[in-house]
Formats: sequence, structure tokens, C-alpha cells
Amino acid sequence: MARKFDSGEGAMTRVKRGKFITLEGGEGAGKSTQIRHILAHLTAVGITALATREPGGTPHAEALREVLLSGRAKNLGPAAEAMLFSAARIDHIENLIEPALRERKWVVCDRFSDSTRAYQGAMGNLDARFMQALEQVTLGALYPDLTIILDIDPRLGLARAAQRRGQGEGADRFEGEALAFHKALREAFRDIAEREPLRCVLIDAAQGEAKVAAQIIKVIDERLFDARLRARAEALIHDSRPAQ
Ligand SMILES: Nc1ncnc2c1ncn2[C@@H]1O[C@H](COP(=O)(O)OP(=O)(O)OP(=O)(O)O)[C@@H](O)[C@H]1O
Ligand SMILES: [Mg+2]
Repeated sequence: MARKFDSGEGAMTRVKRGKFITLEGGEGAGKSTQIRHILAHLTAVGITALATREPGGTPHAEALREVLLSGRAKNLGPAAEAMLFSAARIDHIENLIEPALRERKWVVCDRFSDSTRAYQGAMGNLDARFMQALEQVTLGALYPDLTIILDIDPRLGLARAAQRRGQGEGADRFEGEALAFHKALREAFRDIAEREPLRCVLIDAAQGEAKVAAQIIKVIDERLFDARLRARAEALIHDSRPAQ
């Protein structure tokens, strides 16, 4: 089903709703790790927030995730693969993300449309107009309020991902691509951050976990919090300081 553009759900962008935050970046950059810090911070200031991921997030989309990350869709070619990612995304948006935002919950998503832009872009051979049209049809009026892009040398990111996976487990469909692919991917993410500075923030993900988390939380407080939430966040920092 094509997504609505300017009526119905589109109109929800004008009424009060939760904020939509996405985390992007290459393999092992720390997206899943940082989502946990973000959720803890939002919850601490009294926001109802949920974490989700792509591809996946809903039963139908998780079934497509299995097909996509196992590499079974690879032989269909990059255009069809991009369309399958989008099919999963539409289900995820319509059945999880938008209903939650409408209930004024905040949604934090581990990868979203920038991953399609970057991964399928890094694959090459895809018509830019096709990719733009596909993104518009998929997202309709729903664009993230904030996108955190975790920037890391792919050699470090892949080493982290391999370590997390443990011995004996194979790399997935995309981890298995050559280093040149992962370098192109990093450039594609950096390019998105540069082109869309109002939506995106690039963070140096080679830093330690706590330092990255502190920078992300600062960006969220500055960009998405109103005065009331900011006061609560400041009180939290104050409370967590050791007594003099
Ligand atoms: N800042 C950091 N410094 C060092 N190690 C980290 C850092 N952040 C995460 N890690 C570790 O690196 C590994 C990969 O992190 P994580 O799973 O969060 O990355 P990811 O971006 O979600 O990866 P993927 O794209 O494969 O899902 C984990 O073992 C995690 O504990
Ligand atoms: Mg992850």
C-alpha cells in the first residue's frame, strides 16, 4: 500500500506527537549500544519511549529481515533488495512507529531510511531518481526529527562487530562485503550528515562508550527538549554529581 502524503496520517505532523529519533552508521559503530543509553535518559526525564530496529520491528518486517540479512535476496539485485527493505519499512511505520508517535510516545530506531540510502548507494548501479522516489513513497510525511550518525573507521567497526559475534558465527549479508564497500558506506553516511544538518548530527564513534553517550544525550536535550524537559535533564545531572 502506498503511504499517505498530505491527509490523514500526514496531518499528524501538525498535531502534538512523540519525537522520532534514528541511529545510523556502519557495522559495529555502536548503534545498539547507544540506543540503550538514549532509552535510559528519556525514561529518566519521564518520557515514554520505545526502541525498535530495522529491518524489522514488526512480525512481517522481521520475517523480511531474515530474508534480507541471510543474503537470500541478494540474487534479485540491488533494486529489488532496496524494495524489500522498503516493504519492511512500510509495515514497520504503519503498524508500530506511527501508532506510537500518535500516542505521544517517543520512538528510537536502530537504522532507518538513511541505511537504505547508504547501503544501496554503496552497492552502486542504482538510479538516484529511483532511490529518491522509493524513499518518498515509503516515508510519506514521516521523516525523523533527529538522526544520529555514528562515524567510525570501518576496520574498527568490523573488528568490534566480529568480537561481539564471537567465534564460529558467520558474518551477515552486509558484514561479509569487502572493505571497499564499507569505506563507501562510511562516506555515504558522512555525505548525508553534511547535506542535512538540520536533521542529522555526526558523532565520532571511535570514542569510548560513555563519551559517545554523553554527546548524543547533549544533542537530544538541545534539539528536542522543551524548557520543561531541559530543566528535568539538568536536575538529573545535578543529582548525579557527588555531594561536596
Ligand atoms: N564506544 C565503544 N567503544 C568500544 N566498544 C564499543 C563501543 N560501543 C560499542 N562497543 C562494542 O562494540 C560491539 C558492537 O557494538 P553494537 O552492537 O552496539 O554496534 P552496532 O552499530 O549496533 O553494530 P551492527 O551494525 O552490527 O548492529 C559490541 O560488542 C559493543 O559492546
Ligand atoms: Mg546493532
